[in-house]
Amino acid sequence: MNTCIAVTNQKGGVAKTTTAVNLAAGLQRLGKSVLLVDSDPQANATSHLGIDRKRLQKTLDNLYYESQLDISEVLIARNGFIGMDVIPAGEPLAYAEQKLSGVPVKETLLSERLDEISEDYDYILIDCPPNLGFLTMNALVAATDMLVVIKPEYFALEGLMRISEKANMIKQRINPQLNLSGYLLANYDGRKNQHKAIRNAVKENFPGKIFQTIIRTNARLSNATSQGQTIFEYDPKSHGATDYLNLSKEVEERYGR
Ligand SMILES: Nc1ncnc2c1ncn2[C@@H]1O[C@H](COP(=O)(O)OP(=O)(O)OP(=O)(O)O)[C@@H](O)[C@H]1O
Ligand SMILES: [Mg+2]
Repeated sequence: MNTCIAVTNQKGGVAKTTTAVNLAAGLQRLGKSVLLVDSDPQANATSHLGIDRKRLQKTLDNLYYESQLDISEVLIARNGFIGMDVIPAGEPLAYAEQKLSGVPVKETLLSERLDEISEDYDYILIDCPPNLGFLTMNALVAATDMLVVIKPEYFALEGLMRISEKANMIKQRINPQLNLSGYLLANYDGRKNQHKAIRNAVKENFPGKIFQTIIRTNARLSNATSQGQTIFEYDPKSHGATDYLNLSKEVEERYGR
């Protein structure tokens, strides 16, 4: 079994997609083969990688409904990155759960599909939507490790309690191998007292779970998104590139198999 990381938090706009895309690119730079699965109907990771969504014939939702569909039909090799593939998302993913209403066990569908190809990659990263619904459940059932991205703001801790409860439930009932230890602070400004206070509170409440690497606030990361590039393509000398490369090394140390 290779490493499959669900990048998650039910809160919106905390840097899940930025992390999934740049961690995937960072791991690829370390010589790892990586698959990025865009599991958000907003398809931000797909756009962030510069993939033209209008030209896509099949997206992740097709894998959910079409059990006979060959997974190679939804895989895209990312231009300029040898060893980085993408399963893109599209808006119909939002209706996947409804469309599957007749299927008795729906939480294991993604895991079953990814099993077919997991041996082909060192890492599979799943970018989750900002909720704890069907798509996030599927990601946590498929994952070996959960990476929760935390934006250092006032209600962050409350949200963490909720996602920990849900993930614990999945671990107990369906996916006993799921490692719940990866909490990442992103968009962090060390000059702000509130950010420091939240970092300390996360450390206190979830001892040993927080990554040593912290992703600093860096406008180059947002600019890269709008150009359809990873931070390593857009500005390899930026703080953003340094931080995501350090995170990739830490992930390899902690989760590499
Ligand atoms: N370290 C950072 N410094 C500055 N801006 C950042 C940083 N990380 C992310 N951003 C910006 O914050 C915004 C939200 O990031 P992102 O889209 O990755 O969040 P998300 O959690 O995936 O959102 P959603 O919940 O909608 O999927 C984006 O505009 C992104 O460019
Ligand atoms: Mg996102």
